[in-house]
Amino acid sequence: MGENRQLRLKRNIKQGEAISLDLFDMVTAPIPEPGVGQFLMKTVALGTSPAQRAYLMGADSRFHEPLDIGELMRGRGIGSVLKSNHPDYKVGDVVACSTGWQDYSIQDGDQTRMPVKTLQKIHAPSEPLYLHLGTLGASGFAAYYGLLDVAKPVKGDTVLVSSCAGGVGSIAAQIAKLKGCTVVGIAGGPDKCAWIKSKLGIDHAIDYKNEDIYEKLAEYCPNGVDVYFDNVGGETLDAALKNLALRGRIVICGLISTEYHEPPLPGPRHYYNLIYKRARMEGFFVWDYFEQFADAEAELTDWYKQGRIKPTERVFKGLEAAPEALQSLFSGVDTGIKVIEL
Ligand SMILES: NC(=O)c1ccc[n+]([C@@H]2O[C@H](COP(=O)([O-])OP(=O)(O)OC[C@H]3O[C@@H](n4cnc5c(N)ncnc54)[C@H](OP(=O)(O)O)[C@@H]3O)[C@@H](O)[C@H]2O)c1
Repeated sequence: MGENRQLRLKRNIKQGEAISLDLFDMVTAPIPEPGVGQFLMKTVALGTSPAQRAYLMGADSRFHEPLDIGELMRGRGIGSVLKSNHPDYKVGDVVACSTGWQDYSIQDGDQTRMPVKTLQKIHAPSEPLYLHLGTLGASGFAAYYGLLDVAKPVKGDTVLVSSCAGGVGSIAAQIAKLKGCTVVGIAGGPDKCAWIKSKLGIDHAIDYKNEDIYEKLAEYCPNGVDVYFDNVGGETLDAALKNLALRGRIVICGLISTEYHEPPLPGPRHYYNLIYKRARMEGFFVWDYFEQFADAEAELTDWYKQGRIKPTERVFKGLEAAPEALQSLFSGVDTGIKVIEL
């Protein structure tokens, strides 16, 4: 009988504390057996999400249910069915779902207990499978629906994307280019700015760590920002609000720069521009689109196969590298979608 390695929470982090590599214990347990109506899944890859930070924050967690000490780290993964007592899942099926940070998991396929559906059977898997957690998965779907359904860019629009060298941002920027828009990306540091221009083919890059965003927006968006795809909130959101075009659309995807600040920071100063520019600011939640995921997956896969969308996964190797992958989201050292291949 084999072993199931698991990463379990060792201690909570405090407000403002950086993610360190010693937050988890690696433990082993027997590989579980599926019961009636269940299947056993072997994890092939794990995704990462800034939301996972909240799981580590104990009582300080505002938006997500925190983990107890000793509990298995929560996270989305992809893998194949090894054993099945479930009529809808057969051995060899590829599934993306909440696996947790472990080699094997038991799933029951029951989505009725959850507030939103997240278990996705992949009918025509692309290789490598981790693409279905990133470019062809949740990151790609957030970029696809946030941009195309919420902001609805049209050819010739100027689209601004923050955390453009990050996971969702790197795909949103490419989709905007593909739709004939002028794309301005914001990223931290000259290397990331060079990367978003060369890898993603965007028009202009702003290094928010070393350049004045307000000045650069005025230079690169002389007619204003038609669409702002916001991953970071804070001062960058304010700069976008100030530079909005008439009937501009701001899509709130995430707010990584302020999300974990306690007490919560004051809101943007330039939101009056929503009135003057008859503009709209709207949030969205990718899992609300669950029933339409197959449509996004099909189109993203076509674009990927045609070379019109470049995957941006940064692959960390082995379950033991999962804390480093999570850390890299907040340290900003890596580009693209961070995934862990087991
Ligand atoms: N609404 C939805 O349904 C949905 C779905 C998925 C993700 N999200 C949200 O979308 C955003 C992007 O997610 P992702 O997974 O692709 O993450 P990501 O953008 O890859 O996040 C990591 C990057 O964020 C930037 N960053 C980190 N700390 C920052 C700070 N304090 N200020 C400014 N930038 C900072 C860094 O890039 P730089 O080096 O360039 O600063 C870092 O590389 C997140 O806020 C996430 O929570 C929302």
